[in-house]
Amino acid sequence: MATERTLSIIKPDATRRNLTGKINAKFEEKGLTIAATKRLHLTKAQAEAFYAVHSARPFFNDLVSFMISGPVVAQVLVGENAIAQNREIMGATNPANAEPGTIRKEFAESIEANSVHGSDSPEAAANEISFFFAEIEIVA
Ligand code: CMP
Repeated sequence: MATERTLSIIKPDATRRNLTGKINAKFEEKGLTIAATKRLHLTKAQAEAFYAVHSARPFFNDLVSFMISGPVVAQVLVGENAIAQNREIMGATNPANAEPGTIRKEFAESIEANSVHGSDSPEAAANEISFFFAEIEIVA
């Protein structure tokens, strides 16, 4: 097993309901370290750039509107197999399919307002982390 970094975003539906602490507790209980954290309100251009990989998808415009509807918390999580581990902690994209105990099962409102984002590969993690953070801001 390898120590990895992954990018997590706590989405506007979760910040609106003050769920940041409860979500972070789930990361920490499973052994992930929050190595960087930043609360920000994305602009439309920033959200479009972050989700550019989804720009051809039918839900893209709604996704961007949702992601700029309130503050988000961008974080770097570090730990053994952090990318897969975080995806397990989050649960399936659609909360209807998420396992009990996962963030999305407990907190998500819908497939769009699904409380958290997590990188899905090492390449995505590297790109997404550098989108939000400078190396000097990441302290594991
Ligand atoms: P996320 O992991 O942030 O990556 C893309 C997001 O698009 C996804 O989580 C969902 O919140 C959102 N989304 C909205 N509609 C859909 C859909 N039909 N299929 C997949 N993702 C969707």
